[in-house]
Amino acid sequence: IASQAAEKRGWHLYLVGGAVRDLLLAEGQTGTLMINDIDLVVDGFHQAADVGAGVELAKVLQEVYQNARLEIHGAFQTAALLWHKHPELNSLWVDIATSRTEFYPYPAANPEVEASSIRQDLYRRDFTINAMALRLTSPRSGELLDFFGGLLDLQAKEIRVLHPNSFIEDPTRIYRGVRFAVRFGFAIEQRTKEYINYAINSGVYDRTTQENVKTPALQTRLKTELKHIVEAPYWQSALQLLDDLGALQCIHPTLKLDIYILRELRLLEKLIIIYLRSCEKQQILHPFLHPWQMRLELLIAHLEPQYRTKVAKNLQLADDSINRLKKLAEMQTEVISLLPSCELPSQIVHLLKKYDAPTLMLVALKSPRQVRRKIWYYLTNLANVQPLLNGNDLKQLGYKPSPIFKQILDDLLTATLDGTIKDESEAREFLA
Ligand code: CTP
Repeated sequence: IASQAAEKRGWHLYLVGGAVRDLLLAEGQTGTLMINDIDLVVDGFHQAADVGAGVELAKVLQEVYQNARLEIHGAFQTAALLWHKHPELNSLWVDIATSRTEFYPYPAANPEVEASSIRQDLYRRDFTINAMALRLTSPRSGELLDFFGGLLDLQAKEIRVLHPNSFIEDPTRIYRGVRFAVRFGFAIEQRTKEYINYAINSGVYDRTTQENVKTPALQTRLKTELKHIVEAPYWQSALQLLDDLGALQCIHPTLKLDIYILRELRLLEKLIIIYLRSCEKQQILHPFLHPWQMRLELLIAHLEPQYRTKVAKNLQLADDSINRLKKLAEMQTEVISLLPSCELPSQIVHLLKKYDAPTLMLVALKSPRQVRRKIWYYLTNLANVQPLLNGNDLKQLGYKPSPIFKQILDDLLTATLDGTIKDESEAREFLA
């Protein structure tokens, strides 16, 4: 529909970026290819008025598929259509960018002009494998435009940057390069590695880590890339490669992977699985817990306490993450000093109940084994124990609602936790 609409207006429409790469990678493979993010570029204008072409095409699509939400960005040049819960695809994004090359004073049907416009658009991109286009409009629809050897690099399994300054202009591309390398099992081409090295040695991370955030857009992109990495199944290899390239410095100049953090990250995986299983077994909803968020927090918790809040804010983490990291050192000191002397389950509950599960996981991972075990015991066995009788039972037993209710319930809980009472009839005796 979009290409017909473009053709009718004399424009050219291309599928670009990741979708072209993924289509080429899927060629000859069995299975279904899911593409949730489609990038289109429209160009070939000969009138200044056509600069809003992307938006116009998006509106045509929206008229046909009425359940799409339309967003327009940056001086009407880019339109995004979002289908939430598309019946077959869950959600689907379609971005339609208007090629940034100015309008042409003569008909863009001229193939040289057309080629130079889309070529420039592709040349601004990150890697050769992401800089190919598939023409969607006739004539020659279905033709692959590959000016920079992307197809050869796909075949050679190499991540090759398009220009030497790419990482200086946009350090988040280092993270993208690593993500693609690990995701596809590709190697980062030697010269590209040298450009990464050069960018890092020239202090490119100053722009992502500076105190007064002057580059929020850059930091948003860094957070997006980092999130993609830490939520993917390949997150461990990707973090390792980022570390090998010195690129974790973009998060903080002192951040390095060492055996301690690697061990903590591995342990975290186990803890999350056991914890979620135990929630399932007890049929309780686990508190807001995203494994990717926990991995990122643990990575930041590896920094000296005075840097943590700033880094969490720079990375635009959610408020609960920032708060946890801000208070972590203090909570850790409290728990490490008080928990060892808590012997009875009720004492453990009394000390730990004010913390949520993600906080306790971080504290546990940063504590000596004996403390870690008690926190663990609390999370999987004690945190959700309820008193054997509830408020309604008390009313039935003739107690009138009063402030003492809470005290009675607390006493019942203590007795339940510590095993003084084991069932309801013992609870009733206890009350008597
Ligand atoms: N791009 C770029 N530089 C960036 C981000 C994006 O050049 N820092 C370009 C690339 O051509 C990329 C396209 O914009 O292919 C779309 O970006 P994005 O949707 O973030 O990535 P995809 O390549 O589609 O990868 P993925 O499949 O992981 O979404």
